Amino acid sequence: MIILGINETSHDASVSLIKDGEILFAGHAERYSKQKNDWYNNKEIILDALNYGTPDAIAYYEKPLLKKSRMILHGGSSDWKPHFPVNVPVHYFKHHYSHAAAGYYTSKFNDAAIVVLDAIGEYNTSTIWVGEGSNIKLKYKQNYPVSFGLFYSAFTKLIGLMPNQEEYIMMGMAAYGDWKRYYREVDEYFPSYSKQKYNFHKGINDWGMVITEQDKFDIAAAVQMVYQQRLNDFMHMAYSITGKKNLVFMGGCALNSSANTLLWNIFDDVWIMPNPGDAGSSLGAAAALYGKHINWNSPYLGYDLGGKYPIDKIIEGLKKDKIVAVASGRAEYGPRALGNRSILADPRDPNIKDKVNLIKQRELFRPFAPVVLAEHASKWFDMDFESPYMQYTVKCKRPEQIPSVVHEDGTSRVQTVTRQQHNGLWRVLNKFYLETGVPVLLNTSLNIKGQPLLNDETDIEKWEKEYNFTICR
Ligand SMILES: [Fe+2]
Repeated sequence: MIILGINETSHDASVSLIKDGEILFAGHAERYSKQKNDWYNNKEIILDALNYGTPDAIAYYEKPLLKKSRMILHGGSSDWKPHFPVNVPVHYFKHHYSHAAAGYYTSKFNDAAIVVLDAIGEYNTSTIWVGEGSNIKLKYKQNYPVSFGLFYSAFTKLIGLMPNQEEYIMMGMAAYGDWKRYYREVDEYFPSYSKQKYNFHKGINDWGMVITEQDKFDIAAAVQMVYQQRLNDFMHMAYSITGKKNLVFMGGCALNSSANTLLWNIFDDVWIMPNPGDAGSSLGAAAALYGKHINWNSPYLGYDLGGKYPIDKIIEGLKKDKIVAVASGRAEYGPRALGNRSILADPRDPNIKDKVNLIKQRELFRPFAPVVLAEHASKWFDMDFESPYMQYTVKCKRPEQIPSVVHEDGTSRVQTVTRQQHNGLWRVLNKFYLETGVPVLLNTSLNIKGQPLLNDETDIEKWEKEYNFTICR
């Protein structure tokens, strides 16, 4: 059976197609419409998905009428009515169940605790499930307005960033702030179980203090600290409720790579599907309808540019300019560029960070992430686990050698690469290592601030014309 998974009417619409447990396609609407965080799917992405097969059924990632009822009760600006592109039976799954299924059914676990934390589903905001064999069972739920995600987003808005979109910028700012300055004030806003007086959907309107530029960084640091403390408590609770040693963590909160590292102190093994937010739930809904584990091989599931990975061109470019852009093969499913739509650069040059930020038109404080040969990762970074999808932030052991990929607080958000995971990228890193003794490159997404990742041939043409930038492919 071929199942078309759909997620829309939320901040990042997506489409997935699976056949008997194999993932044929998974992609983001924004990369086709060129509208960042597009709420709706479009003809182009649907046609691309249908190239891989004709669906027998549609799986939708939430219960629209339940969501509508919440909006009538509590407000909120989101739309609730989905549009279906083909006339086949439609199956609806609850929002948090789709997250749980996206995580558990792509994991290697047969036995795991599943935690879902986001802003809000229909009503649920925090859930704990148990996965055993092919079954996923709800064990605990917390409803709106108590919400990890809404807490984080409300402060994102308070410091002048775009909620539901620029949380990752606030997370990056946290490293530059003094968390102690606003800790008490921020702590009081966290929606704890006994008291909840704020409607975080509407943002924080009673902060009452003038916010200067430095305050923004200090508030970000305090928010990150409070978030991590609550996350730690919640994960301990999940551990004791479920009694499981494996964790599957899903929902938009699982994108907080600085906080994710603490999960390894509580659980023996952790799986975060590389697209844990709502955009991953088109795959989650499809997997939920399939009802058992699906075959997860890699996140390269979107638009196919074809071509062989341009290893020699990349190495040449790095030698000549220290920065190269690469677009090859299928696009990443998830927010991070993991080598197929990436800008790669020499991390040894301390000036390279500013140069890449200028190309991407981003704020100059914004950090960049390293990609490292997995077999060398523990020599360069303080980690004893793999991070193939750039989901964990850890201490860098040799910051003076790779200054452009180390954050202000001495940490890096690491992507580890094995040969099996991405043979082309592994070979690029290995060549760079043999020539320089450094098995690390800077890896950032091939996009301009506020625009989606480069996707197809039209985008390549635009980059080469408008930005006068050669793309290796
Ligand atoms: Fe969600």
